[in-house]
Amino acid sequence: MKKSKAAVLGATGMVGQRFLALLENNPFFEVSALGASERSAGKKYKEAVAGRWVVEGGIPEKFAEMVVEKCEPGIDAEIVFGALDSSIAEPIEQAFAKEGYAVSSNTRCHRMDEDVPLMIPEVNPGHLEIIETQKKNRGWDGFIVTNPNCSTIAMVLGLNPLHRKFGLEKIMVTTMQALSGAGYPGVASLDILDNVLPYIKNEEEKMQSEPLKIWSELKDGKFVNANINISAHCNRVNVKDGHLEAISVALKEKASLDEVKKTLRDFRGEPQKLGLPSAPKQPVIVMEGEARPQPRLDRMVERGMASVVGRLREDPILDYKLLLLGHNTIRGAAGCAILNAELLKAKKYI
Ligand SMILES: NC(=O)c1ccc[n+]([C@@H]2O[C@H](COP(=O)([O-])OP(=O)(O)OC[C@H]3O[C@@H](n4cnc5c(N)ncnc54)[C@H](OP(=O)(O)O)[C@@H]3O)[C@@H](O)[C@H]2O)c1
Repeated sequence: MKKSKAAVLGATGMVGQRFLALLENNPFFEVSALGASERSAGKKYKEAVAGRWVVEGGIPEKFAEMVVEKCEPGIDAEIVFGALDSSIAEPIEQAFAKEGYAVSSNTRCHRMDEDVPLMIPEVNPGHLEIIETQKKNRGWDGFIVTNPNCSTIAMVLGLNPLHRKFGLEKIMVTTMQALSGAGYPGVASLDILDNVLPYIKNEEEKMQSEPLKIWSELKDGKFVNANINISAHCNRVNVKDGHLEAISVALKEKASLDEVKKTLRDFRGEPQKLGLPSAPKQPVIVMEGEARPQPRLDRMVERGMASVVGRLREDPILDYKLLLLGHNTIRGAAGCAILNAELLKAKKYI
């Protein structure tokens, strides 16, 4: 398959850096342009990120000398990966879509729009169909596809097999979210050392609303939300990467513990069937160790693209409870946007 030219907007930030690390050897996409703010535009990439590169392995050599551009259409690319600060991303993403680019975004700006797919490729690949409506509604030559929020991606991917087989009725989730989820420089060290911050702005609302759209049915060109009660508590903890989530669920149809484990382990989605290059072989990993998963030990399982489940047991109030781990800047951000784009390419939207 011929590679498509790809630009990364917000290439200097926490998620942007992760995009570059993941795209360095991607067989579907060749990074042809890097965009960021006017503070970075005109500088070589290695100079623009000097002192703030945080991804393991250092700056990929092939991008170090590229000159950072302003985030304006005209950039040499077919697809645009969006990792911009959410406060300024909306008009920029729209301008690119209008001018014919495919935009695969991480920001919250268009997630809940009624004609924009909120995608996890293993969960709702059929929602790509809304793209034609989006282009028609807005008169755009291109389109926007978005990622859910990072903690939502991990939870929905991990629970999807149970929802599809038994139906989810209620979800109670308490998150322990990593520092890299707050961007760079993120949370001040004096706030988080020796501490847990029991509030992340808008995070609980996103975890309670986004899953209903991701699991919605697309009927006559409209998303009909899933009917699940979700309650989320979100906390920031002193971990670099990897969101850990303590989850209890009530199922619509009763199932034994063995059936629940088998259902999680056996699940495969469209990216696995299509053999997409960034797809994990097994999207949901079930660990048996009594103190697993742990962020430091388990966040890179399946190259950071899986939801890792452990401590699966009966819950005396709901049906089952478990711990779930997802890498927030890989599966929760750049990795999901890349997998979305690989699905778009496999389905000939790009
Ligand atoms: N971190 C995560 O785990 C995570 C997970 C899921 C989704 N997200 C979302 O992904 C996006 C990026 O997050 P992040 O954590 O990477 O943030 P970040 O580290 O703060 O990076 C923000 C990026 O936006 C650029 N930018 C800021 N103002 C701009 C402007 N006026 N014009 C053009 N570019 C501008 C910055 O460029 P300069 O370097 O030039 O300032 C930088 O490249 C956010 O929308 C966030 O909500 C993040």
